[in-house]
Amino acid sequence: MKQNIYDHPVFFEKYKDLRDNDKGLNELIEQPVIRKLIKNQAGANVLDIGCGLGQQLAYILTKSPGSVIGVDISRKMLDELRKRITSDHLELACSAIEDYAIKENHFNLILSSMTLHYVQDLNGLFDRIYRGLKNGGQFIFSIEHPVCTALMKGWVTTEGTKLWPVAHYAIEGIRHQNWFLEGVVKYHRKLSTIVMDLIAAGFHIDHIEEPVPTATVLTARPDLEQHLDRPPILIIAVSK
Ligand SMILES: C[S@@+](CC[C@H](N)C(=O)[O-])C[C@H]1O[C@@H](n2cnc3c(N)ncnc32)[C@H](O)[C@@H]1O
Repeated sequence: MKQNIYDHPVFFEKYKDLRDNDKGLNELIEQPVIRKLIKNQAGANVLDIGCGLGQQLAYILTKSPGSVIGVDISRKMLDELRKRITSDHLELACSAIEDYAIKENHFNLILSSMTLHYVQDLNGLFDRIYRGLKNGGQFIFSIEHPVCTALMKGWVTTEGTKLWPVAHYAIEGIRHQNWFLEGVVKYHRKLSTIVMDLIAAGFHIDHIEEPVPTATVLTARPDLEQHLDRPPILIIAVSK
């Protein structure tokens, strides 16, 4: 099942508001790691899967890439991106990544930030990404951490202690989350399944990280301390 929840007007407005006003998770915890892992950007052919409002693309465009393509299932997200990034250098495709023909042996760098938990057939996508990369090319992605997607109930307070409950971890598959709206569809996979599927696709695993806020970040944003209690994000960098 492919759900295009970001085109729902209420979801879209709430998500945009979150991203424009709370720079916590993406800007302070996730993006610094992804940027550190990217090797050669100058002249690179880059694909961003689930590019959203384009924050990651805006960064890539400052690095003199060869060609840059952003793919996203949501027309609303891409229309908003176009208001924010006017570069002629950027090609956008409004498509589910499941239906998008990834050009073979073409990309030096394929990125995907916080999108792959929406994809049901991740295994098949890994195969297509592998074929889309040139030899030596990198695939770097972040995904909601499996300890978060296992149950999707969010934080609970038990006897005065805030906890993140984990259950059904080994039961992989569809989840329904209440995030801005009821019934947001995501897919849970064990960490080992994600890693083994990458290996089966042919990738070399270069780096795995479960990023949390640094001490410097925590000084400025003490509210992010809860992410020390469980990893919010999984980041993996692989190469062909
Ligand atoms: C959490 S947002 C992340 C946006 C952006 N990558 C970022 O980190 O700022 C997830 C994005 O993935 C897109 N998306 C969800 N399912 C998709 C699919 N099957 N194919 C392509 N894009 C998808 C959504 O429309 C949304 O823009």
